[in-house]
Amino acid sequence: MGSRFLVIVAVFTTIIITTVVEGSIVCNSNDLSGLKSFKAGIHTDTSGRSEKWVGSNCCRWEGISCDNVTGRVTEIRLPGFISTEVSVFQSQMEGKLSPSITLLTSLQVLDLGGLIGLAGTIPPLIGYRLQKLKKLYLYGNKLSGPVPGSIGKLSKLEQLHLHENRLSGTLPPSLGNLINLNALFLYSNQFTGMIPDSFTNLTNLVRLDLHSNNLNGHIPEKIGELQVLEELDFSSNLLSGKIPTSLVNLTTISVLYLDSNYLEGAIPFPSRYGQMRSLGFLRLQNNHLTGRIPANFGYLASLQRASLANNKLQGAIPASLGNLQDLTELYLNGNRLSGQIPKTIGQLSRLMLFSISHNLIQGELPSEMSSLQNLQTIDLSFNLLRLSSIPKWLAELPSLSRICLAGCGIKGEIPEFLRTTPSPIQELDLSVNHLIGSLPAWLGSLTQLYSLNLSRNSLASKIPETITNLQDLGVLDLHSNNLTGSVSQVFEIGQRFPDGSLTYIDLSDNSFSSGVELIGEGAQTGIQYLNLSHNFLEGRLPISIGRLKSLRSLDVSRNKLGSALPDALAYESLLETLKLQENRFMGKIPSEFLKLRKLKDLDLSDNLLEGQIPAGKPLSEFPVSSFSGNKGLCGKPLTPCKA
Ligand SMILES: *[C@@H]1O[C@H](CO)[C@@H](O)[C@H](O)[C@H]1NC(C)=O
Ligand SMILES: *[C@@H]1O[C@H](CO)[C@@H](O)[C@H](O)[C@H]1NC(C)=O
Ligand SMILES: *[C@@H]1O[C@H](CO)[C@@H](O)[C@H](O)[C@H]1NC(C)=O
Ligand SMILES: *[C@@H]1O[C@H](CO)[C@@H](O)[C@H](O)[C@H]1NC(C)=O
Ligand SMILES: *[C@@H]1O[C@H](CO)[C@@H](O)[C@H](O)[C@H]1NC(C)=O
Ligand SMILES: *[C@@H]1O[C@H](CO)[C@@H](O)[C@H](O)[C@H]1NC(C)=O
Repeated sequence: MGSRFLVIVAVFTTIIITTVVEGSIVCNSNDLSGLKSFKAGIHTDTSGRSEKWVGSNCCRWEGISCDNVTGRVTEIRLPGFISTEVSVFQSQMEGKLSPSITLLTSLQVLDLGGLIGLAGTIPPLIGYRLQKLKKLYLYGNKLSGPVPGSIGKLSKLEQLHLHENRLSGTLPPSLGNLINLNALFLYSNQFTGMIPDSFTNLTNLVRLDLHSNNLNGHIPEKIGELQVLEELDFSSNLLSGKIPTSLVNLTTISVLYLDSNYLEGAIPFPSRYGQMRSLGFLRLQNNHLTGRIPANFGYLASLQRASLANNKLQGAIPASLGNLQDLTELYLNGNRLSGQIPKTIGQLSRLMLFSISHNLIQGELPSEMSSLQNLQTIDLSFNLLRLSSIPKWLAELPSLSRICLAGCGIKGEIPEFLRTTPSPIQELDLSVNHLIGSLPAWLGSLTQLYSLNLSRNSLASKIPETITNLQDLGVLDLHSNNLTGSVSQVFEIGQRFPDGSLTYIDLSDNSFSSGVELIGEGAQTGIQYLNLSHNFLEGRLPISIGRLKSLRSLDVSRNKLGSALPDALAYESLLETLKLQENRFMGKIPSEFLKLRKLKDLDLSDNLLEGQIPAGKPLSEFPVSSFSGNKGLCGKPLTPCKA
């Protein structure tokens, strides 16, 4: 009744208002006033598009399209991201979305997506007025408030993109009436409540993305009725309960993200070969899934990337895995999987990444793994594999560049064959093994090395001078060995390569005795984490330490460092953790330390400091234990100084 009335009015006004001036169509007066109100609500438009909206010929305005017969505005296309043949430009619009936009009753496309600054609410009348709408893009803005229930009346709607706003409230069940929808994106908002069961009526839906909201309750039981669904993402919500068994009927799905929820129960997998055959990416990690990986896992023949990481899965890795001819990435880390790696793994000719760290896998590595020609990353860390040595064939894999074998029971010296791998090593993690001997000088020839973790072994030597050749080194963790001599070589990397990438240095718990004077010399400005704790370091902290502008955590505790604390430490404005305890620092705490606004963790205990603790935040906020065991400190939080 109402809509018929609207149609009659629309036709009537069209006849009266549409006039043809010099062969072009002048815009309808309702459309014109709707657009003018919209423009009035905007106070900034960095694209300059709406600024050029002058006169009354709105059909000629940039971003506006009209029907060439009725003269009504059918499209508003003002996306924030403007891409032309010659340039790309992210524009921004600030202001409020005017409810008068609903005067444009012939709109089929409303695209105000990605404008970053558009605030206000989705007009409650939208469903009554914009009944011709097919595409509604309001994503990437600052819209707040609920999705109005009237939206369920937009029966022609095919695409609804409201993601990345500040929308809240529950999802209106009326959304389930939008049976022509093929894409529904509501992710990254603040929606609460359950996923309406009515969503299972959206049988034309190809992409459904609700991730990163606060949705709770369970996944609708009949989700399997979304027969043409290809991508489903419910991750990062508060969903609980079991994964509905109907999921196995989503035979067209290629992306499935259910991670970071509170889902439980075994994963329902197809019992018959061929079901879910087009599943391309299965991501179920970070849940509370239990049970075994089904023996017929390998029947998901189109699987390309699969993650079942960080659940509570048990039992063996099924041998059927070998059928997954398209598999490129397999994450099984952080479960309770046991048994041996199946020999069939050798058939995964496309496999690039294989991670089974933190499981209970035992026994020998199957020699069939030596045929994994495309394997780039392997992580076997922390299982019950007692490898005793790094298999030579591993170092001969043609594509391997990231090798993680922490906690694998490896004994002996660091083998020299790692020097000449076919693909240059970028990451090497041999931590928590039984390595002995020295850090070999040839480490310096691994020129693409980004991350080296040899912590918690029994390596005993100096750091070789050649390490200063590692211009790509970003992460160096050598803690808990028996390394000796100077730490200066590590800081020389930053001196030699001013644009280097070094951010993380942990040399703690060794027997180093010198080299602190080079900290901060040259360009080492990217270092964020520096731990030299528990060594025999002597000397004083250099003033150049103040140049470590990115430093967030500094730990030089438990050494023999002395002299005064440099004021320059206070230039580290990002510093959150400062541990200087158990040294021989003397004199006063510099008043500049009051500038360390981000400091959350401070320990100056057991030094030779004296005098008044500079009064004020953040120093006064730390407990007594942060300052105890010094020669004579006083003032808040310790007892007041004697006058
Ligand atoms: C009017 O639009 C129709 C369909 O959009 C198109 O086929 C036709 O060429 C247009 N006519 C004029 C005069 O632009
Ligand atoms: C799905 O649509 C049918 C027919 O319109 C309706 O009867 C039913 O209640 C809807 N289901 C849900 C869960 O809303
Ligand atoms: C899967 O679909 C078939 C055919 O539509 C139906 O009979 C069956 O009950 C569905 N399975 C589940 C678990 O929903
Ligand atoms: C190095 O390995 C140890 C032990 O496996 C681990 O705890 C540490 O976080 C690793 N270091 C880095 C920087 O990842
Ligand atoms: C570490 O090395 C030093 C010097 O080589 C030696 O005296 C010491 O016993 C070693 N400590 C350990 C725990 O192996
Ligand atoms: C520095 O290393 C020591 C010994 O390895 C460790 O106990 C300490 O927590 C580390 N400090 C920081 C700030 O991470």
